[in-house]
Amino acid sequence: MTPELKIGKYRVPYPVIQGGMGVRVSGFKLAGHVAKSGGIGLIAAAGLALNSPYYDGKNYFKADFQALKEELRKAYEIAPDGVIGVNCMVAVKNYEDSVRASCEGGAKLIVSGAGLPLGLPGLTADFPDVALVPIVSSVKAAELIARKWHKSFNRLPDAVVVEDPDTAGGHLGEKLENIGSGEYDQYATVRGVKAYFQEKWDLDIPVIAAGGVWDRQDLLNALEQGADGVQMASRFVCTEECDASERFKEAYLNCSQEDIGLMMSPAGLPGRALNKNVEHIRQRDVDLGIRCPSGCLKKCAYKETQDRFCIVHALDRAQKGDVETGLIFCGTNAWKADRITTVQAIFDELFPKESA
Ligand SMILES: Cc1cc2nc3c(=O)[nH]c(=O)nc-3n(C[C@H](O)[C@H](O)[C@H](O)COP(=O)(O)O)c2cc1C
Repeated sequence: MTPELKIGKYRVPYPVIQGGMGVRVSGFKLAGHVAKSGGIGLIAAAGLALNSPYYDGKNYFKADFQALKEELRKAYEIAPDGVIGVNCMVAVKNYEDSVRASCEGGAKLIVSGAGLPLGLPGLTADFPDVALVPIVSSVKAAELIARKWHKSFNRLPDAVVVEDPDTAGGHLGEKLENIGSGEYDQYATVRGVKAYFQEKWDLDIPVIAAGGVWDRQDLLNALEQGADGVQMASRFVCTEECDASERFKEAYLNCSQEDIGLMMSPAGLPGRALNKNVEHIRQRDVDLGIRCPSGCLKKCAYKETQDRFCIVHALDRAQKGDVETGLIFCGTNAWKADRITTVQAIFDELFPKESA
């Protein structure tokens, strides 16, 4: 029997958060359908402006704000009573605005990483029901956040996501040289975070394991090892409901284990992707004359020195189907994808009826 998941005021029957996937890989459709199936669906806030009807090439931040609210509205059309949240990355310049748009748009939780979300409770002060969930990769980071939140805002996290740099997709919160070294122990970190909140704050909050969870066996293992739930992202890409193009999904279907690797993002963080050789991505930006059109990141090597490439455009291109020069983020398990399925079928597999 698998336990339900309760985060802040919200409860879902299955202990699964669908991880936020930018740009528009987890949009309204995926997040809405995951929520409808009984998990927590997350819209990734990053880069929603691009490809939105509000964007005129010059108003990136304003369009991003409107597009996020619209995305939430459409997700709730799919799952009116579902638990739908937003993944907001600290590394983006309009972080404060994306948190505000999330709250105003009715997000029930904000899951926030790619940097330490030290000021998050201050940004949501007018929306006390919105659950706050930082993403960390170490006990130390969780401690730092808890101390700062308690001191400055008299608040503590409603849950914590522990993301494993050795398996997760997208940006990773660990130095490149430490990833894959065998030093990192995901479930020791999960248990460490859990114990910290119990011992220091007398608080039993859900600690969620992210990275490398693909099937029921992985899920049961995570629960057995002390996690209260899992955050799964790559597994949901090859679904009919995933908001990425067919070609993006095909890239997952056709890849092998050797195709998946690490690259350095212009954001200064390592990332795990399918096409880790990013030279041709950069070439495409040079050919197109893309010159940091929006300044979307707080810190960006492409913006500052034209080093690497414009990540928001590279992710956007991939989402739209240009998998040759777009960037395809994925976790280490992406090679296991062997068919396009549905969100409901994944839930049926993870939680077979006889286990209820
Ligand atoms: C295509 C893709 C895009 C991602 N984008 C984001 C993002 O915008 N923000 C974020 O915090 N994490 C992002 N991630 C990380 C996921 O939310 C998740 O934590 C991680 O991939 C879990 O590992 P799994 O893919 O093995 O399930 C992304 C992952 C993938 C595969």
